[in-house]
Amino acid sequence: MNGPFRLFRHTFRSSGLALFFCVLGAVALITTTPGAATGATAKDNYRTYCAQCHGVNGAGGGVNTESMNVQPRDHTDAEGMSAISDAQLRKAISEGGLAVSKSVLMPPWRSTFSDKELDALVEHLRVLCKCSG
Ligand code: HEC
Repeated sequence: MNGPFRLFRHTFRSSGLALFFCVLGAVALITTTPGAATGATAKDNYRTYCAQCHGVNGAGGGVNTESMNVQPRDHTDAEGMSAISDAQLRKAISEGGLAVSKSVLMPPWRSTFSDKELDALVEHLRVLCKCSG
């Protein structure tokens, strides 16, 4: 084996390891970037982010509610939900309960979801309540 080739092999081997960590880092970045196209539907997002308070089916009674002095809105209550406009629902989700003169226990989600995802969540609430605003 001649000199230059050995040098090439040596360089290649160690940069291979560096490349491995680069790829690992890139994958971690892609999978943890908020709002990245994860393909999650509004239903998935609801189950991940809302169900612990609003319940898996939106009727309340999520695991957090035992210790909450204000109960989350029942999203399956057609009468109550139809009294709230889409714009109001969106504002409550985006800016939190306080922004719509409700409990601070309802967190703001604007830095978690994109505009599209927020719209889709409002649509999902309309599916849960089987009502319109
Ligand atoms: C930590 C508990 C908690 C989580 C998590 C939570 N909420 Fe709420 N939410 C509440 C509470 C409590 C209220 C009721 C506030 C009130 O009536 O004063 C509420 C109220 C609401 C309302 C009604 C506002 C209104 O005008 O009556 C909407 C819409 C809503 N939540 C949507 C969501 C969505 C969508 C998610 C997930 C992205 C979510 N919430 C996650 C606790 C939570």
